[in-house]
Amino acid sequence: VWRPEDQVERLVKEIRERATAGDVIIGVSGGVDSTVTAVLVYKAVGERAKAVFIDHGLFREGEPERVVELLKSIGLEVYYVDARERFLSKLEGVSDCEEKRRIVGETFAEVFTEALAKFPNAKYLAQGTLYPDVVESGAVKGADRIKSHHNVGGLPPWFKLELIEPLREFYKDEVRRLAKALGLPDEVVYRQPFPGPGLAVRIIGPFTREKLEVVRRASKIVEEELEKAGILRNVWQAFAVVGDDKWVGVKGDRRAVGYIVTVRVVESEDAMTADWAKIPHEVLERISSRITAEVPQVVMVTYAVTSKPPSTIEPC
Ligand code: XMP
Repeated sequence: VWRPEDQVERLVKEIRERATAGDVIIGVSGGVDSTVTAVLVYKAVGERAKAVFIDHGLFREGEPERVVELLKSIGLEVYYVDARERFLSKLEGVSDCEEKRRIVGETFAEVFTEALAKFPNAKYLAQGTLYPDVVESGAVKGADRIKSHHNVGGLPPWFKLELIEPLREFYKDEVRRLAKALGLPDEVVYRQPFPGPGLAVRIIGPFTREKLEVVRRASKIVEEELEKAGILRNVWQAFAVVGDDKWVGVKGDRRAVGYIVTVRVVESEDAMTADWAKIPHEVLERISSRITAEVPQVVMVTYAVTSKPPSTIEPC
């Protein structure tokens, strides 16, 4: 039998044997993968574990604050880098999905490199790469590259750090079991996967700060309503998407043209395939009413009813 406690013990031992001297830098993002990685490394090497959190301004509402607080509560100090302006100003007006990914990836590498200067004893870099990331990024021979996704093995050469990827052999559900075994709170254990380029890939067409705000506020409502209905934990991902198409609405007795927000909720085991979630109409109705009431730029909410394949999960 596969016992998470045994795995934790083995992984901690392996990290300890590998990282014998020097600091281990962990790029944390708030997700279950990087948090589990951070805790495993902390258990293995204690104070030599250094968590770095880069705020690219593309996180969900309240996420950066919660990440820093949580790791602090475990005893791990987090070096927080506010790079929001740097990312957002570069993204402004960019439409192409892969271009958005490239900008976020490159800027991340730059900011991260600068942050590393604070850690002269850094010798290793720990990442929360999972098995499906390895496959989808084409690192496994013969796999088709679908989107550029994670920087698997894509460490810029100038980093000169040894890569530690303790979760490379695991699927998400196994990582959640590790998280539980490590005593992490449910908020982390059941945290949905969130793409590296963040909300940038949930904006169709030119990136604007207004669309970012729309997507952030609408996503929060989607998550809140699904949580209230007891659905959030049982789905793979649930979020909002916005593009440039407009719908004519009425506000009071006046014509008001506004954004169309698409709500996407999917069930999946590993993101390679996914089914759109058949959530109750009443829940969809509450989501729609709240988004149009609380996000004034939106006058129409639609629900995405296409599975993967033929669609992908994210719009971009
Ligand atoms: P797609 O949209 O390809 O997404 O069906 C599959 C899973 O991967 C996530 N995703 C990303 N994760 N960087 C990431 O770290 C990315 O650029 C990226 N694009 C998609 C997506 O959220 C889903 O869970």
